[in-house]
Amino acid sequence: MTNIDFNRRRFLQYAALGTLATSISGFASTASRNLNQAPNKAFKPDVEIALTAQMAEVSILPGAATRVLKYTGKLLKGPQTAIKRLPGYLGPILNLEQGQKVRIFFYNQSPEPCVTHWHGMHVPQIMDGHPMYAISQGEQYVYEFEVKNPAGTNWYHSHTHEMTARQVYQRLTGLITITDEDERRLDLPSSEFDIPLVIQDRRFTSGNQLHYSLTMRQRMQGFLGNTILVNGQHNHIIPVKTRVYRLRILNGSNARIYKLGWSDGSPITAIGTDGGLLEKPETFPCIMLSPAERVELWVDFSGHKTGSELALQTLPYQGFSMGMGRGRRMGMQESVADQGSKDTLVRFTIIEQISDSPKLPDTLAPIRRLTVKDVSNPDKTVPINIGMHRMTFNLNGRIFEMLDYTEQEKIPLNTMQRIRISNANPAMGGGMGRGMRGGQGGRIMGMMIALPHPIHLHGQQFQILSRKPGYADSAYATVKEGFINSGWKDTVLVMPGEEVEIIKPFMDYTGLFLYHCHNLEHGDMGMMRNFFVS
Ligand code: C2O
Ligand code: CU
Repeated sequence: MTNIDFNRRRFLQYAALGTLATSISGFASTASRNLNQAPNKAFKPDVEIALTAQMAEVSILPGAATRVLKYTGKLLKGPQTAIKRLPGYLGPILNLEQGQKVRIFFYNQSPEPCVTHWHGMHVPQIMDGHPMYAISQGEQYVYEFEVKNPAGTNWYHSHTHEMTARQVYQRLTGLITITDEDERRLDLPSSEFDIPLVIQDRRFTSGNQLHYSLTMRQRMQGFLGNTILVNGQHNHIIPVKTRVYRLRILNGSNARIYKLGWSDGSPITAIGTDGGLLEKPETFPCIMLSPAERVELWVDFSGHKTGSELALQTLPYQGFSMGMGRGRRMGMQESVADQGSKDTLVRFTIIEQISDSPKLPDTLAPIRRLTVKDVSNPDKTVPINIGMHRMTFNLNGRIFEMLDYTEQEKIPLNTMQRIRISNANPAMGGGMGRGMRGGQGGRIMGMMIALPHPIHLHGQQFQILSRKPGYADSAYATVKEGFINSGWKDTVLVMPGEEVEIIKPFMDYTGLFLYHCHNLEHGDMGMMRNFFVS
């Protein structure tokens, strides 16, 4: 059986399961079109977009073009600004407004099954890109949703069962920006002064083709490339003027975690996180950005001389990978491929002196700070325990099954839940890295298992209630100042030993919503589960 036959067969199985799921869980009206192949006549879109996943050749490195799997887009209806095509491999930026009704015709012209997830967006189950809705080559899926999210930066990417890592690696990624009335009143830097930066690490063959294969070590720690691309370009340089800019940064890497810092050592000012603008600007010495997380920065280039340069870097930190742990002990040199090694991401060159520039607002977006009092059932905390069994990471002791959920994964609709994400379970080795330093075998085991995990929850954005570091040791000290714990989030980095509590609303939509590790290799290996909201 060829790979394609196999995938096709598996796909058909899921399609059948999907039909079943939609009918048993009471989606009667959608059961007849469970794959959403046709537009809903009652839905009146303000914006209509055709989005196609297809193979393409793009120029990334000097020399031969690189074959990629990419999204191309076309605006069918709505304001011209609703879609912005970018040179290179990234899908078009979808510029949406809160309250807009959006219809997206998604065509799969690639030889593999594919499904698109609108990461960060609060949409119904059948519009969310659950892997059960993957379509094959030549098929179409119609997404229709109202934009409920506030102003901010989200993104879209493939979410195909066990193929997400490879498909995202091959470029099935694009950004979504959302604006709303509150934001428009703020006079933040816009148009040429509002710059999206998608950071991804890759590995190329000598013929400039993307290299993706997983050794045992890479399967465990996730794929780490040795070439950092920003917006699909290596050694990216952005010409700027002496004024303020808004940078919307997405970590679109499979597994690499960045510790953002300016090359001149100046502090970083954040104005937004995954879920949109912060309540007020906040300043950090560095910012940790794990896969799928977004951060919006405010940067002021005034006072810099023409011709000078400021670089955004990833600073060194203790990456907890087994390779690094062992390498250090054996005195090996840190290489760029290690998690936590230093590198330049993008350089800004000052090309022009200008004087007018907006001021940093004192307050940004109104955010109601959630507290334990808002939780619907204060006696119950929903657990997300990171575990490992037979060299496979799991959540609450289980790995992903398409439609499976347990009693504790059932969430009542329109409730606010307190969720405890724990990377500290001593039974599975979170503690072993520390406790077993005496034994050689234990040490290697411990280094392997004690990894940071970026945990993402589909559906509505959450707030971070608390972080309890497991080990207040020198490794944690290299990252702890870089966490933004205010604002709305959909992905949170949980360090080895750490326990993070969040409060998350589950409003409006019933059905299956994923939660998983956004280290894409971990997600594909099964570190993913469903919540069933009903
Ligand atoms: Cu960014 Cu479930 O995904
Ligand atoms: Cu993980």
